[in-house]
Amino acid sequence: MSLLEVSALTVAFEASRRSEPEVTAIANLDLEIGAGEVLALVGESGSGKTTLARSIVRLVDPTHGSIRFDGVELTGLGAKELAAVRGRIGFVMQDSATALNPRRRLLSSVSSPLDSQRSVSRRQREGLAREALQRVGLPADFGEKQPGELSGGQRQRVSVARAIVTGPDLLICDEPLAGLDLMTESHMLRVLKEVTHDTACLFITHDLCLAAEIGDRVAVMEQGRIVEEGPAGEVLSRPAHPHTRALIEAIPPADPDSAWRDRHGIVRSVQPPFEAAT
Ligand SMILES: Nc1ncnc2c1ncn2[C@@H]1O[C@H](COP(=O)(O)OP(=O)(O)OP(=O)(O)O)[C@@H](O)[C@H]1O
Ligand SMILES: [Mg+2]
Repeated sequence: MSLLEVSALTVAFEASRRSEPEVTAIANLDLEIGAGEVLALVGESGSGKTTLARSIVRLVDPTHGSIRFDGVELTGLGAKELAAVRGRIGFVMQDSATALNPRRRLLSSVSSPLDSQRSVSRRQREGLAREALQRVGLPADFGEKQPGELSGGQRQRVSVARAIVTGPDLLICDEPLAGLDLMTESHMLRVLKEVTHDTACLFITHDLCLAAEIGDRVAVMEQGRIVEEGPAGEVLSRPAHPHTRALIEAIPPADPDSAWRDRHGIVRSVQPPFEAAT
């Protein structure tokens, strides 16, 4: 049994105007992630990646289908049971600007996934939140700040700290490195690789090379469906589906002065963050 089993998932949104058809963001999708496995999910904008992530943590209600986490069916769970499961799933939202409560001190936001764990005292929760902040490279006293005082990159790091504070069994990261400068990206990538060493992860990214770097497997999404899936190296070096090939061809041409080929033979124009950090 896989840790996460999504089967025949469909998510449809009503159109904002009655005259328009509904939007099928996810269409009959199957996906599995084993314990400790990292699945990198790539796909063009609007292909349904965020909707899939939000469905798994039940921020969006599926229209049809099943989502099983560690054998428990999540669709149809009540708020109380859901809160217990949510402590085991860390979620880094795509839009970190709206992810943090503007009226809460960061320490309180970062420790909030631990709130449902009655056996953990407030003091212990705050200690764990400080540790998580330090792990993502922020000083422990950062927790005293309010979200409004942060830069975009700092907010993203705080979102990652909050997602890992419980020591989850599954981490869902929706574009966690987007918009970070190279140094911060390299640091965050190292943190995420360390965390996902023994934690299952659904890692959503636009960057195919990053997907191959972090993913044990890569899945490619198009119009609400997974059109190709397999071991990272194989999918990138021998793409079978035209959409995967199109995504690879869309990688910007390299500057010949600084170009290099990654281990999948793809030409890139900037130094890989994981090498730049060493
Ligand atoms: N709350 C919503 N109401 C209506 N339509 C929605 C809603 N959320 C998403 N959609 C639609 O569902 C489709 C998939 O959107 P989604 O945000 O999942 O894509 P994505 O792959 O994450 O894109 P990006 O790479 O730009 O983040 C899009 O057509 C989008 O307009
Ligand atoms: Mg998205």
